[in-house]
Amino acid sequence: MRFQGTFQIIWVLTQGVVFSSAAVVKDGSTCTVTPLSATQNVRRSIGAVQPAARDLDLGSTSTTPQALQSGRYPRPAPAKGKSPPSWPPSAVSINDLDEHELTVGSLVSQRAAAATVDDTPQILDAFKNCGKDGTIIFTEGVYNIRQVMNTTDLSNCSIHIYGKFVWSADNIAYWLRSSYGVTYAGRSTAWLFGGHNVNMRGYGKALFDGNGQVWIDQNKNNSNQNGRPISLTIWKGTNILIDGITWRMSQFWHTFVAHSQNVTMTNLDMNTTSNSQWKAVNTDGTDTWNSKDITISNWTVTCGDDCISVKGNSTNIHVSNIVCHESGAMCVGSMGSNANQPDYVDNVVFENVTLYHSSNAAWIKTYPGQGHVRNVTFRNIHMSDVNQPIYVTSCIYSGQNCDSSRLGISDVRWENITGTSRYNIAAAIHCSAAAPCKGISFKDIDITQKNGSPAKSVCSNVQGQDSMGLKCSGACPGNWPQQLTGNR
Ligand SMILES: *[C@@H]1O[C@H](CO)[C@@H](O)[C@H](O)[C@H]1NC(C)=O
Ligand SMILES: *[C@@H]1O[C@H](CO)[C@@H](O)[C@H](O)[C@H]1NC(C)=O
Ligand SMILES: *[C@@H]1O[C@H](CO)[C@@H](O)[C@H](O)[C@H]1NC(C)=O
Ligand SMILES: *[C@@H]1O[C@H](CO)[C@@H](O)[C@H](O)[C@H]1NC(C)=O
Ligand SMILES: *[C@@H]1O[C@H](CO)[C@@H](O)[C@H](O)[C@H]1NC(C)=O
Ligand SMILES: *[C@@H]1O[C@H](CO)[C@@H](O)[C@H](O)[C@H]1NC(C)=O
Ligand SMILES: *[C@@H]1O[C@H](CO)[C@@H](O)[C@H](O)[C@H]1NC(C)=O
Ligand SMILES: *[C@@H]1O[C@H](CO)[C@@H](O)[C@H](O)[C@H]1NC(C)=O
Ligand SMILES: *[C@@H]1O[C@H](CO)[C@@H](O)[C@H](O)[C@H]1NC(C)=O
Ligand SMILES: *[C@@H]1O[C@H](CO)[C@@H](O)[C@H](O)[C@H]1NC(C)=O
Repeated sequence: MRFQGTFQIIWVLTQGVVFSSAAVVKDGSTCTVTPLSATQNVRRSIGAVQPAARDLDLGSTSTTPQALQSGRYPRPAPAKGKSPPSWPPSAVSINDLDEHELTVGSLVSQRAAAATVDDTPQILDAFKNCGKDGTIIFTEGVYNIRQVMNTTDLSNCSIHIYGKFVWSADNIAYWLRSSYGVTYAGRSTAWLFGGHNVNMRGYGKALFDGNGQVWIDQNKNNSNQNGRPISLTIWKGTNILIDGITWRMSQFWHTFVAHSQNVTMTNLDMNTTSNSQWKAVNTDGTDTWNSKDITISNWTVTCGDDCISVKGNSTNIHVSNIVCHESGAMCVGSMGSNANQPDYVDNVVFENVTLYHSSNAAWIKTYPGQGHVRNVTFRNIHMSDVNQPIYVTSCIYSGQNCDSSRLGISDVRWENITGTSRYNIAAAIHCSAAAPCKGISFKDIDITQKNGSPAKSVCSNVQGQDSMGLKCSGACPGNWPQQLTGNR
């Protein structure tokens, strides 16, 4: 029996539980997806695959509910009170492999299959069939993703991922050409994800592998590359939960939250570390932009850029319990890049953060633009070997026109910030002369050099500097660098 296209849908609608010849099985409002690479008879298909090419046969799955619950990745843990969904009822498996397919199947290694098999059509099929008032289960195994995905029309949908999603990188030209634009700074993404009331949980088993080494090596230490895709973008989403997913070797930023409200992202584990002469540039943990009511909690991130970055028009952002390695850590900005468009950041808390060997720790970077940064708290931040822990600039990257910026920074607190700085600077703060920083305060700042010697602070254009709780030993020029190369 082999069902395809409309036949399959009709069969599903009329029969309830069905194992079709394709790898998406629909049972009521639940779609269960099995990776094509798990089938014994992988029929190869190359390049941009049409849904019609998804005519693969599936034997019965050997994955058991027990296997699903034993996590390979101890962190992150599933959110409290949530347990994995029960395995769908077993059903008759259809095994109509022909001899040729069996032969091919036994010869095709998973690696070879990975290069040519594309799970994108069936993944999109599952979202299409169960993305509204439904549940989607991705069972264990490797899902090869060779095409962009747009799943922004979900509603009341629960997604459970136990498998590994691997984004192809042998078709870089395809991605550079086809990644979806996300407006911000010309960036783009491999996956636009959104809708209303959507949960995506990985139970510490979901692994997103962006094949980032290939992206890093072809970009050769250069900065933002047009078309290089953000792994996952929460786009125009409301009431979204992302929990328990592990990322390894992201293509570009791991995640981006844009034009969204009430997004919770918990228990995420990210690591993009290059093993070559080229560095993992621009592999931010996340960036928020034009979004509000965002909760980010329980993350471990190793990346080559900002760990958590709150960009323009972000309101009510709460970040807690984060461990970052090799990153730019907790950051507001960059923002204000378009001098004609205001950028606002309001009500941000970063708390309970640990940082290792990072460029900065708790900082704000704006272009000389317009708008404001208001009501930001950096609290309970502990660091080890950070290049320049506290840094505020009104003219990031250029070091020009710092004093003409009208993007005001006010009501910012640094509390209980401790640890070691790589050089002799604890804080460097240059606010714009045209819009001095107001309501800046420091409490319990204990940052020393790695050898225990005191680290100093420099500042310019801070209102009420004498009573802000931090002693500045001198002025901070506008062109003060984001990263130091030695003591100052
Ligand atoms: C964060 O992690 C801790 C310890 O693993 C856990 O107890 C807590 O429930 C997690 N928080 C969330 C929001 O999942
Ligand atoms: C949400 O979807 C589930 C099926 O997954 C359905 O039972 C429930 O009624 C839906 N809720 C609403 C509010 O539509
Ligand atoms: C993504 O899908 C939504 C809903 O189907 C559609 O409105 C939107 O135009 C699509 N976006 C892109 C960039 O194709
Ligand atoms: C925010 O989203 C969560 C799901 O992540 C939902 O439970 C909660 O009710 C939403 N809050 C509001 C105010 O809509
Ligand atoms: C990140 O990955 C690199 C390379 O695999 C590894 O050396 C490093 O220990 C990892 N970082 C963390 C925090 O696990
Ligand atoms: C890439 O950049 C890193 C860090 O800036 C540097 O250490 C490395 O030498 C650079 N690689 C090459 C090949 O220039
Ligand atoms: C930020 O929001 C303001 C006010 O809504 C708007 O004028 C501006 O264009 C937005 N900025 C960006 C970069 O989207
Ligand atoms: C400042 O931000 C905090 C945390 O988001 C919030 O509770 C508080 O109401 C804000 N204060 C003002 C004056 O908006
Ligand atoms: C942060 O840590 C403090 C001190 O340990 C604790 O009181 C507070 O509840 C923590 N906040 C969060 C959001 O976990
Ligand atoms: C200060 O932060 C550390 C973590 O860096 C935390 O253990 C400690 O409880 C905090 N102190 C207070 C008074 O909250």
